[in-house]
Amino acid sequence: MQMAVRFKHWLTAVAGAASLVATGAAVAQAAFPAKPVTVVVPFSAGGPTDVVARLIGVPMGKALGQTVIIDNALGAGGTIAAAKVARAAPDGYTIFLHHMGMSTAPALYRKLSFDPLKDFEYIGQVVDVPMTLLGRKDLPANNFKELQAYVKANGNKVTLANAGLGAVSHLCGLLFMSQMGVELTTVPYKGTGPAMNDLLGGQVDLLCDQTTQTVPFIKDGRIKVYGVTTHNRLGSLPNVPTLDEQGLKAFEVKVWHGMYAPKGTPKEVIDKLNAALKTAMADPHVKQRLAELSSDIPSADKMTPEGLRTHLTAEIAKWGPVIKKAGIYAD
Ligand code: MLT
Repeated sequence: MQMAVRFKHWLTAVAGAASLVATGAAVAQAAFPAKPVTVVVPFSAGGPTDVVARLIGVPMGKALGQTVIIDNALGAGGTIAAAKVARAAPDGYTIFLHHMGMSTAPALYRKLSFDPLKDFEYIGQVVDVPMTLLGRKDLPANNFKELQAYVKANGNKVTLANAGLGAVSHLCGLLFMSQMGVELTTVPYKGTGPAMNDLLGGQVDLLCDQTTQTVPFIKDGRIKVYGVTTHNRLGSLPNVPTLDEQGLKAFEVKVWHGMYAPKGTPKEVIDKLNAALKTAMADPHVKQRLAELSSDIPSADKMTPEGLRTHLTAEIAKWGPVIKKAGIYAD
């Protein structure tokens, strides 16, 4: 109680001072960005989300005239990072890059300390990334047909890595197990960066992961690939069949990404961040690299605050009932 009274007096005292500095604050805001901008990434360094953040971070920084710093805030399928950004100062200096886990989190986590539709401003959609089903190099199964027989024969002796509840690697693995009618042993990591290290080292058997990380490893033959998760084959991996064409009918996962800022970030600041995002996505090096990784740049209308908000709202409505029906959640 005494603390509350003292806090009230302190508030009254600073209110006067605050009005004196208001003009200065307006000037500082007009000059956004006056210092480096931090992009919070919800998974490990070196993983697919981190690859995208670092790829676009450089040209975004150039467009903003400031360095873009990547902050990997790990854990709980991206929800720890989302909560961190939701509570950050709404000044544009802390922004967030996350994938479609932003839309599955409300159904997957019963105790979510942020609301994707209330606690953020939207900068724009970023990239759409296919996935690949992978195995360690010395796994006895040499193609998808052999993999089907192998997982059926070995069941929960087979390990399947993922990046935790809410990660797309988890979602893809669940789809695979449900369509195959098998229960494998899942091994969670704080991102598919470390999961990939263990796949390369032969400590886990299988991983479903995004092409933004996997294409180079597939091309140099350090891992086995059993299929791609898109309806059509990928330009970067033309000889790899889709899972759909190999019998997992309608198996389709393409991972959309969005960029966010804390609720209350001024519109002028969001507009500058959105312009920097658009400049980065038009950068020839970014375009070439994303094409090499078979990742698609969203259309101009999606790369807007409204485009992202509309898509996120629709995705939350789509995933909610699916996840509820599947009965998957964390307390
Ligand atoms: C990552 O960046 O590690 C992945 O996006 C995690 C995931 O599978 O969702």
